[in-house]
Amino acid sequence: MTVSGLSGGYAEYALAGVDTIAPKPDSLNFEEAAAIPIGALTAWQAMFDLAHLSSGQSILITGASGGVGSMAVQLAKAKGAFVIGTASGRNQQFIRDLGADEFVDYTAQPFEEVVKDVDVVFDTIGGDTCERAFQTLKKGGFLVSAAESQAEEKAKEFGVQGAWLFCQPSAKQLAEINRLIAEGKLKIHIETVLPLTEVKKAHQLSQSGRTRGKIVLQVGA
Ligand SMILES: NC(=O)c1ccc[n+]([C@@H]2O[C@H](COP(=O)([O-])OP(=O)(O)OC[C@H]3O[C@@H](n4cnc5c(N)ncnc54)[C@H](OP(=O)(O)O)[C@@H]3O)[C@@H](O)[C@H]2O)c1
Repeated sequence: MTVSGLSGGYAEYALAGVDTIAPKPDSLNFEEAAAIPIGALTAWQAMFDLAHLSSGQSILITGASGGVGSMAVQLAKAKGAFVIGTASGRNQQFIRDLGADEFVDYTAQPFEEVVKDVDVVFDTIGGDTCERAFQTLKKGGFLVSAAESQAEEKAKEFGVQGAWLFCQPSAKQLAEINRLIAEGKLKIHIETVLPLTEVKKAHQLSQSGRTRGKIVLQVGA
């Protein structure tokens, strides 16, 4: 197996180019470190490389309690943005503890009725959620989705900018992410660590859409 940025499989050994990896942060164990790259890089590239989120701007993050969303909330706060996150009520405290300024329970009310004129939307849910999230953008705003491949086409219907993001490995960005971890500005939440023999359970858990943070599969556990 190689670490290439494309979807891969599970392997005990993998080849990785030096431009795709970074040293494990000293403060994290191996399970925590393994849980960082996909979520953090996806959020980083979506919000900073594509949407160019800057200090003082507002951002709506759908699925803010998920593996990608929980990283996005913290990275957007570290950037100095005003952060609004969506999830169901059981995740309100979790998302506020990550640093979100506002929380919307998507099961209690349509989020697009209470969130207006944001600079950026980072959508991690896709489908109908992504479609409705366009309504929360200000004129000239930018929606980037990790879950909706039609985001760019949809954006044209709403007269805003849109993009779908496919995460790429980056040693440079991982080094910047490691700096934030060392400064205590980025923390990882792991829902559960499962042995590789329980890969089926891990997928079922992931597909439930209810995970808070990340699921880690461990070889040799
Ligand atoms: N394009 C890429 O490069 C890339 C990279 C990584 C991931 N992805 C994709 O990004 C998406 C998110 O991945 P993930 O691992 O972060 O997902 P995840 O961890 O499975 O997300 C689960 C979280 O989403 C919340 N949630 C579920 N439905 C929601 C809704 N309708 N509105 C708001 N929150 C909702 C849940 O909270 P509640 O239980 O409170 O509802 C749960 O905490 C997936 O589609 C994944 O395939 C793409």
